[in-house]
Amino acid sequence: MARFSQTSIERVKEASDIVEIVSAYTDLRRAGQRFTGLCPFHDERSPSFSVNAQEKLYHCFGCGVGGDVIKFVEEKEGLAFAEAVEALAERYGVEVEREQVDPREEEARKRRARLGELLERTAAFYAHFLWDAEEARKAREYLASRGLGEEVLREFGVGYAPSAWDTVLKRGQSAGYTLAELDAAGLLVKNKRGNPYDRFRSRIVFPVRDARGRAQGFGARAMSADQKPKYLNSAEGELYRKKRTLYGIERARPAIAKQGRAVVVEGYTDVLAAHQAGIGETVAVMGTAITPEQVQILASHTDEVVLALDADRAGREAMLRAQRVAAGKRVRLRVAAMKAGEDPADTLAGKGPGSDAADAFRALIEAADELRVFHVRMLLEDADLTSPAGRDRALDEIVPVLSSMPDSITREELEREVASRLEADPGLVARRVSTQAPSPAPRSGVGGGDPGPEGSERRAAPAPRQLSARERREQSLLEMAIALPSDGREILARLTSAHLSSRLMERAREWLANHLVEPMEGLPRDDEELRDVITRLVMGAEREPASRQAMELNLLWLEKEMVDGEIATAAEGGGDPSPDLQRRRADLAERIAHFEASK
Ligand code: CTP
Ligand code: MN
Repeated sequence: MARFSQTSIERVKEASDIVEIVSAYTDLRRAGQRFTGLCPFHDERSPSFSVNAQEKLYHCFGCGVGGDVIKFVEEKEGLAFAEAVEALAERYGVEVEREQVDPREEEARKRRARLGELLERTAAFYAHFLWDAEEARKAREYLASRGLGEEVLREFGVGYAPSAWDTVLKRGQSAGYTLAELDAAGLLVKNKRGNPYDRFRSRIVFPVRDARGRAQGFGARAMSADQKPKYLNSAEGELYRKKRTLYGIERARPAIAKQGRAVVVEGYTDVLAAHQAGIGETVAVMGTAITPEQVQILASHTDEVVLALDADRAGREAMLRAQRVAAGKRVRLRVAAMKAGEDPADTLAGKGPGSDAADAFRALIEAADELRVFHVRMLLEDADLTSPAGRDRALDEIVPVLSSMPDSITREELEREVASRLEADPGLVARRVSTQAPSPAPRSGVGGGDPGPEGSERRAAPAPRQLSARERREQSLLEMAIALPSDGREILARLTSAHLSSRLMERAREWLANHLVEPMEGLPRDDEELRDVITRLVMGAEREPASRQAMELNLLWLEKEMVDGEIATAAEGGGDPSPDLQRRRADLAERIAHFEASK
């Protein structure tokens, strides 16, 4: 990827509204110079998340995450740095320049952009055709009969592909696209003689987009039973990859952020019906078991995924496979108890937000079981309960799943349920579970991996390391130096590395000595450690009242720590500390006492 020029990056940052960006994920309230709210990276009840609108920085004093607006977009939207810059540039209308453009990459980028445009034009054409063409009347009637209203259909850009062999082919060519491009965009098929024609004909088309709303391809539904296959998708290619497509993600994103979870359904019509019913956090995996790529995309938007897939056998196995796929990712998987053979598209058909059907679906989502609870219930359902041998087999299968769960009330209740269904002594089940080493991969048939205790905890945030009193002093001294740069500069000049307890703090001091007024400016992108500590300090600088006096006092304390250290070293060497050291220590203690008294 060609690199953006540093000035471009700065301009993108300048133009970005970090408060607006963050507000999509958490409610922010102004508190003086900064904005605060509940941290969107971990679960908390009182706000320790802070945003600095001027510096475009965020920091959580609870879980320790932090960075600039670009980092926020990277983390929250699962984008690479360059993609995050591009997304912000697009959103805030900034032109970005690239340094040392690699001609091949530039070529590829231009090509992708052209293919993307081609897909957008084609999608727009299909949508017009659905609403305007006489030929599409049946399709309009069909969609209406499925309870899908015009509003949701337009919102998702649903369209209709004409029956002619070459509409898209001709239109594309006359707009200047080559056959090769039309082919690469997945819009063509070839007949036996190798002549290309339109891939989608006489079908309802659903444009498929990535999380940023860029068209990737189409799914197209047949209009009659004899038209095969029922669904035809874009050819796999440069743009369309079924396994990393989540239908509806671009429209579901705000609701996913707001609800703190995503709902996964099977198909296109399920997504439309769910959105129409006000369940906007819904996306579809399009008929297949959820893939690692799809879990990855979801994990970058939320930490909770509710699978609302058909409860038939295939659906259940797909749900259990999801567990293996999600192993090691920070997502909690739950399963909604759907009735076999019932699609959300049918139950929600024609229903709006607040309807009984919508409420019932929401209730199913809310009551969704932890995937492992679902797994155990499914094993119970499949068990041969008529013979002791059958019940033993069931227990053998269930125990590893149970023991992979954290020791909890949920597990205990489930153990009782298992015991009662298997007509076993509850003590036996509990014993088996506690003696079974928690296995990362339950060995039962369809199940498989397990995210482990960490993955099962909701928003397991990395616990911020507790700072020692000394580290807190160092940190607060540097923060105050940033808050009051003219006094801070003098203080920093007197602060030596001997005062500081870690290399990281030394590096921070060194950086601040030269960048005290604009500490964030020019921070090396690739030096994550330095970026993090400086971000933390800049954010902290606004929290505490700073004064010259407080800085002096802090410096005295650090000085005393330093002398204490020297005295301790002398003692380790077996000797007595020199009278000079003793005197310095006493002197410092006195000055500190004096300072404290005059506060
Ligand atoms: N699907 C697909 N390719 C196929 C068949 C199915 O991509 N050849 C995907 C589609 O996304 C479809 C989903 O799998 O929406 C579920 O398939 P199915 O249950 O057959 O279709 P429904 O969604 O129920 O379709 P409809 O509501 O239009 O009847
Ligand atoms: Mn279906």
